[in-house]
Amino acid sequence: MPGMADAHPLGIDIGGSGIKGAPVDLDEGAFVGKRKRIATPQPSTPEAVADVVAKISHHFADVTGDSPIGVTLPSVVQSGLVRTAANIDRTWIGTNAVLLLQERLGRSATVVNDADAAGVGELRYGAARNTGGLVLLATLGTGIGTALLYDGVLVPNSELGHLEVDGFDAETRASSHAKDNDDLSYEEWVPRLQRYFAHLEDLLSPDLIVVGGGVSKDADKFLPLLHLRAPIVPAQLGNAAGIIGVAWLAAQA
Ligand code: BGC
Repeated sequence: MPGMADAHPLGIDIGGSGIKGAPVDLDEGAFVGKRKRIATPQPSTPEAVADVVAKISHHFADVTGDSPIGVTLPSVVQSGLVRTAANIDRTWIGTNAVLLLQERLGRSATVVNDADAAGVGELRYGAARNTGGLVLLATLGTGIGTALLYDGVLVPNSELGHLEVDGFDAETRASSHAKDNDDLSYEEWVPRLQRYFAHLEDLLSPDLIVVGGGVSKDADKFLPLLHLRAPIVPAQLGNAAGIIGVAWLAAQA
């Protein structure tokens, strides 16, 4: 087992269908070895999810030792306290996730919103590297997660996926889930994205917009069709961004 100096922090991303984790090499901004995925237990209560996190932690014990662990949730998380729960069991609301995991794992834990973690990953190692000013990351998936980073500092829990646009909660129209649900082609989805990102741009005037989520692998099919003042670019770390970002945050804590 490595000593603390050379142990890698462990990042774990908790989603509605899968819980994925990997040790992260912070020099490279990359996974050390292969990521481990376990299906999210149903119901996805804090205790059941903590059991899976413990399994993943145990799986990587040789690589991570007792180094800090970073965990993302699809939730507003303030100082470890979970305030909302999207696609995970509602009993998370009011749970102190940091205390729960630290007691369960016996190692120091950092818990943040999933999109915030992806934003930090992209800022440190990906599409927003060395970018000053205001960076807005939006992950288009089951919902829309957002991260706001100003001069390299995260403004947490922005939740701009829930902006009301034309009377709708934006993520119910512009997420990739909404695209699939309404059976839209990329061309048919683009007006919704244009409306959403133009509204965000009117409110915040970001210097750079980064688009993440699984669908960002097809970014060439829709990003060039958008007309915005700020450059809008695909995320570079793909689904690894959250794990890498939260491992980085855990190592700073
Ligand atoms: C939640 C956010 C989350 C996003 C992506 C939204 O529905 O409100 O907290 O970041 O989905 O998972």
